[in-house]
Amino acid sequence: MDHEATRRDALDRIAAAQDLEAVEALRVAFLGKQGSISALLKTLGGMSPEQRQSEGPKIHGLREAVTDALAARKAALESAALEARLAAETVDLTLPAAEAPRGSIHPVSQVMDELAEIFADLGFAVATGPEIEDDWHNFTALNMPESHPARAMHDTFYLPDRTDDGRELVLRTHTSPVQIRAMLSQGAPLRIIAPGRVYRSDSDSTHTPMFHQVEGLVIDKGIHLGHLKWTLETFLKAFFERDDIVLRLRPSYFPFTEPSVEVDTGYAWVDGRRVIGGSGDAPGHAWMELLGSGMVNRHVLAAGGLDPDEWQGFAFGVGVDRLAMLKYGMNDLRAFFDGDVRWLRHYGFSALDVPTLSAGVGTPA
Ligand code: DAH
Repeated sequence: MDHEATRRDALDRIAAAQDLEAVEALRVAFLGKQGSISALLKTLGGMSPEQRQSEGPKIHGLREAVTDALAARKAALESAALEARLAAETVDLTLPAAEAPRGSIHPVSQVMDELAEIFADLGFAVATGPEIEDDWHNFTALNMPESHPARAMHDTFYLPDRTDDGRELVLRTHTSPVQIRAMLSQGAPLRIIAPGRVYRSDSDSTHTPMFHQVEGLVIDKGIHLGHLKWTLETFLKAFFERDDIVLRLRPSYFPFTEPSVEVDTGYAWVDGRRVIGGSGDAPGHAWMELLGSGMVNRHVLAAGGLDPDEWQGFAFGVGVDRLAMLKYGMNDLRAFFDGDVRWLRHYGFSALDVPTLSAGVGTPA
């Protein structure tokens, strides 16, 4: 074969190659160590200078043409393979998502939604305040002046910075400062709940450095302890979805309330978990401390810009994580903050299952 025939034959065979293996086989056949074009190149060494001058460019040209044709065919086959793969791997968005991984609502979020739903029905709005709080709102305005012993009980995280007017900054140790913020910004009458994160330097199986509380505050004229007890009873009946909630109010002390009451509920152990309901004095039952509350202290009303001779109020504060544990039967608080997907899959709630009073505020996913 002359070079021209060799070239045509080679290019035809390359064009006919149907896959990458065939292209590679042709490369070896033409340009490999034992390849036909490699053999031609070797003949140059035995030629006379004149012969080499005329044959050299032809043989090198042939090698170049074959090298280019191989590369072009390889690129064409590769892009065809990619096209085919893209066509085969299209995603059908109309398929049901049963097998898709799914997220879930954390029990803390679920319980906060349930609380907002229950209290909205009683005419309460949701109020918020900053998690980085100044010590006036977190302590002083709540009748805990500097040097007040209750300040030490809170294991406060202090920040190195201060506010522009020189107040110390803390991570809020409770949601109670939202009482002050709500009174100052909205005045009276007032009905709010304030759910949110709080922080204390404390950590064991029942304490985490961050946890959740919900604060409640009602300010109006002629408010008394009866209103407090009815409100808590109504809330707990709706939350635990049972009518046999029995409360016991015990005298207590909080700087921001006077009088202060600690509220216990009756419960029984059922299948290794506490189930709220019944009197704590009934057979097989006991009392459990659930929340702190009381009539808003006069000093607190005054710090909130209200006249204590005109307005009265009650307040309460309760741990949201604790409410979630009691309602949904978890026993280790730390698991709430581990982010373990297996725990979330077990205890989480469907995003589509929005709590409503009519449908039941908490149906597990
Ligand atoms: N702030 C209290 C705490 O963190 C809880 C509390 C008790 C809130 C009594 C109140 C209350 O509003 O009246 O332990």
